[in-house]
Amino acid sequence: YNPENHIYVIFGASGDLTKRKLVPALYALFVQKMLPEKFVLLGVSRSDFSDDEFRNRMKEAIIKYKEIDDESQIDKFVKKLFYTPISFDDEIHYKNLLNKIKSLREEFGTNGNTIFYLSTPPNVYGIIPQRLTSVGLNKQDDGWKRLIIEKPFGYDLESAIKLKDLLLKDWTEEQIYRIDHYLGKETVQNLLVTRFSNGIFEPLWNRNYIHHIEITSAESIGVEKRGGYYESSGALRDMVQNHLLQVVGLTAMEPPSSLEASAIRNEILKVFQSLRPFKKDEIKNNTIRGQYTSSKIKGEVVKGYRQEEGVNPESQTETYAALKFYIDNWRWGGVPFYIRTGKRLPTRVTEVVIHFKETPHFLFAKHQMNNSCNMLIIRIQPDEGILLKFGMKTPGAGFEVQNVNMDFHYSDLTNQRIPPAYERLLHDTMKGDSTLFARTDEVLEAWKFLTPVLECWKNDKNVPLLGYPAGTWGPEHADDLIEGDGRHWHYPCKNLADDGV
Ligand code: BG6
Repeated sequence: YNPENHIYVIFGASGDLTKRKLVPALYALFVQKMLPEKFVLLGVSRSDFSDDEFRNRMKEAIIKYKEIDDESQIDKFVKKLFYTPISFDDEIHYKNLLNKIKSLREEFGTNGNTIFYLSTPPNVYGIIPQRLTSVGLNKQDDGWKRLIIEKPFGYDLESAIKLKDLLLKDWTEEQIYRIDHYLGKETVQNLLVTRFSNGIFEPLWNRNYIHHIEITSAESIGVEKRGGYYESSGALRDMVQNHLLQVVGLTAMEPPSSLEASAIRNEILKVFQSLRPFKKDEIKNNTIRGQYTSSKIKGEVVKGYRQEEGVNPESQTETYAALKFYIDNWRWGGVPFYIRTGKRLPTRVTEVVIHFKETPHFLFAKHQMNNSCNMLIIRIQPDEGILLKFGMKTPGAGFEVQNVNMDFHYSDLTNQRIPPAYERLLHDTMKGDSTLFARTDEVLEAWKFLTPVLECWKNDKNVPLLGYPAGTWGPEHADDLIEGDGRHWHYPCKNLADDGV
């Protein structure tokens, strides 16, 4: 159903995210008639644009970052776009903003429902909501008010608690939506469907049948133009604290009692609360950090991280992180989880690999090929799908066993386009559905788990920052994390079914 009429205010409207993701996603919703009849988008940021200048920029962005195959309605859509410059800290500017919102409301009949999307540098996440409150824009007596916050929510546990306290002073938890775009990915949501709509997987989904779980999120790109941001972030904050831990949550959670937002988020929270805290002396053996160095990929010289724009030439920021950890609960007791992420790896791929235990007795030759020939690979991107590996008889004499694949690709299911993550999430914020957004307590638990690692990496030379040539699977020693346990990473190819190992 269509959301109620409202105004969508984007703070940071001159920024990259607005251009690349938010406005193209809103246009795609418009084309699919998923926006309310009365809808206005108000862009605000420090730059000084007129409405027309903003519209033209957004028009170009919609064409460039095409989310939907239909350009015929762009002119109609951009008529709904307005712009007002603001200095994020200046109280007077918020009075102007209030007046602007009021006049748009009257002109377009959108009533008081308003969404504020903070797509700004994180250092103003605290101040904007305070200033909105000072002009009464958090009050819901004339319609709902919602606050959407991009990551990172804090920098570590302490700063995340501070931000939480600041926000919850004047806004309620129900008003706040913390974006984690991984939760907007169709295939991440499919983790829930695969697990809980099939009777065959759930009985096996525990320590009795699962040997270990791997989660990989590899990127082939480097930090691009985001060196400035990335320097103060690093792979652990940028990918693990949010995206990868959410994937762990959905993989490991107990079945929720319903699809209500609180039911699902409660189960994810319980997983986070069961993460075994790292003891200081374990961090050395259970974590790896790396940074890409210059190399040649397909004959072309690729910069190392320290040569990227906005990066300190002596930077200690990690562009690769791998962790081994446990979830101390009844279901997962003793099952190791291995997760890794990195930039400038050989390919872009995100997947969850469930390694099942071996048979208790080996009847057939070659059956012991690797320590878990039964694998379920849930491919989040690209070539979204699921692949099950199992042993079959090699045709001919004797009883030789070989591994074969049974694979399903999303592209086989339908010709329908898979909605990009932001499209799904923006629509959910309009409908007031917070299922796919991280709740405060989840975010704090995630920080609680990772802050000791961050501190140790910062202060302790015991976990060295290892270089790896751009285009390889991370530092040479990255494999020790898993190989030390007699296993090896699954090295994914671009296409799910091309999987070798
Ligand atoms: C973002 C990170 O949240 O996720 C980026 O800040 C990263 O550094 C991106 O590149 C990865 O998202 P996706 O959807 O391309 O896997």
